[in-house]
Amino acid sequence: MNILILGGGGREHTFAWKISQSPLCEKLLIAPGNAGTAQLGENVAVNPNDFEAVKALVLDKDIDMVVVGPEEPLVRGVYDFFKNDDALSGVKVIGPSAEGAKLEGSKAFAKAFMEEFNIPTAGYREFTESSLEEGLEYIAGVTPPVVLKADGLAAGKGVLILSSVEEAQEEFKAMLSGKFGAAGNTVVVEDFLDGIEFSVFVLTDGKDYKVFPVAKDYKRIGEGDTGLNTGGMGAVSPVSFVDDVLMTKVEEQIIKPTIKGIQEREMAYEGFVFLGLIKVGDDPMVIEYNCRMGDPETEVVFPRMKNDLVELMKATAEIRLGEITIEKDSRAATTVMLVSGGYPGSYEKGKHITGIEETSGSIIFHAGTKAEGETVLTNGGRVIAITSYGETVEEALEASKKNAAIIDFEGKYFRRDIGFDV
Ligand code: AMP
Ligand code: GLY
Repeated sequence: MNILILGGGGREHTFAWKISQSPLCEKLLIAPGNAGTAQLGENVAVNPNDFEAVKALVLDKDIDMVVVGPEEPLVRGVYDFFKNDDALSGVKVIGPSAEGAKLEGSKAFAKAFMEEFNIPTAGYREFTESSLEEGLEYIAGVTPPVVLKADGLAAGKGVLILSSVEEAQEEFKAMLSGKFGAAGNTVVVEDFLDGIEFSVFVLTDGKDYKVFPVAKDYKRIGEGDTGLNTGGMGAVSPVSFVDDVLMTKVEEQIIKPTIKGIQEREMAYEGFVFLGLIKVGDDPMVIEYNCRMGDPETEVVFPRMKNDLVELMKATAEIRLGEITIEKDSRAATTVMLVSGGYPGSYEKGKHITGIEETSGSIIFHAGTKAEGETVLTNGGRVIAITSYGETVEEALEASKKNAAIIDFEGKYFRRDIGFDV
């Protein structure tokens, strides 16, 4: 099969790494890709949100399967674009329809879905400009912290947790007056949940589902989970506090009702469901749905999968996922992200990356990198994810941190405490 991956981060390099191991993959293209994916396939300078350009590429290169990495093309309806086009309708698209992608693209939609299918999540109310006064009154009655969420996609910045009612009311007004653009036209005010977070990844064909290894990511820039939110500074798998008892609850109380909801609402969904979960007391609750794999969770989840990923995705698109048995690698995997100085604020690009060849015992997944001749330059905030195996999470982390010290570029920063709480 000829396969096209849409996206260009560490997640997509990991997809490329796993896909290129499959005997089912003949030709691999990545749009736009990065310096890492260029070593596994052909990078093409096409924007994943430009569906006409994606179409031209798919037809030109005889692509059989499109694997969608990021959420934005899915929320914008890339799946539907393919299925409604005579020339493209036979191409397999891994990802949900626009309707399915609303689970990520609209917080209010996701909350109503969870309410309808009895999926445990924080209590909430939603408000728009016309119910602003009602919203302010509602927030006045909340015991802080107050959780505010812009309804739509806001590049991971649309969730605010405020420690006072006054602050929350100010932010609430700012959101409704366009702080996050149209994403904040509706604001969800949610009960604060106190617990520890983890990520569960499910592949579904809309009928059956398969659960991938569980992971935990570290979103804050600073050690000890302090400072600003980032796209993710590292991840570990497995997660020590997620035992069989908890996973059984996740499956019974969250995964099964989610798949049932997808079926009852007749959403076309042939892709990944990323469950952002929190353990409150002994029970799991949903913090958020995403309609794609996580980044950097993918960098630890796929290395722990023994299955042929192409076979899995092919079965998904052909709605026969039920035939497949998931085989996991018993080893632990960890990843440590090297980021540009200043990230998640402003940072410079184009820094020369050295030392990649000197590393050993890890898999180097590129995120924001760009090849220029023989040299590799930084090209984003998150630059390289260093993934390692170990008999334990600790052992894997040692290897990741050893290699994190070897790879270098001006302004390099990484967290040395990934996994500190598990
Ligand atoms: P989200 O974009 O929905 O994942 O939210 C970003 C982060 O905000 C999550 O990873 C949590 O750490 C935090 N968060 C979101 N909703 C809640 C909640 N109801 N209670 C506590 N923390 C939350
Ligand atoms: N690591 C969190 C995400 O991919 O959204």
